[in-house]
Amino acid sequence: MDKLITAAQQAKVQALATYSNFRVGAALETATGKIYTGCNIESSSYGLTCCAERVAIFKALSEGERDFIRISVAADTEEFCTPCGACRQVLWDYAKNLEILCINKHGALHTIQLRDLLPEAFDDHLLKQG
Ligand code: THU
Repeated sequence: MDKLITAAQQAKVQALATYSNFRVGAALETATGKIYTGCNIESSSYGLTCCAERVAIFKALSEGERDFIRISVAADTEEFCTPCGACRQVLWDYAKNLEILCINKHGALHTIQLRDLLPEAFDDHLLKQG
């Protein structure tokens, strides 16, 4: 757990937050104990920005990983930074039982389950009914 927290804090250093100056780091742990990190990457066309959480899971998925147990998210905020709506959806699509560890600027920890952040979620079970 400490390793996952440190990995998110270190990933935050790489954030390309030129426009918002809001730096985020994420570290995603697979069922086999591997860690994939991500930072937010912003674009001059603001809407193309990608959050740290999605960078981390896209890296992992593109390497063939399919089984995830927890993700840590570090931000330089007093309050805990939880994943945005878009990230909640993508994380839900690939890791329904994900635990989320939020780390604030003091290194304090808040743990929450993805299913509690995205109740009554849309996903492929509904797509199949359409
Ligand atoms: N951001 C993340 O990377 N993760 C979050 O959980 C919240 C927001 C990024 C996106 C953007 O680069 C900046 O933070 C401000 O929204």
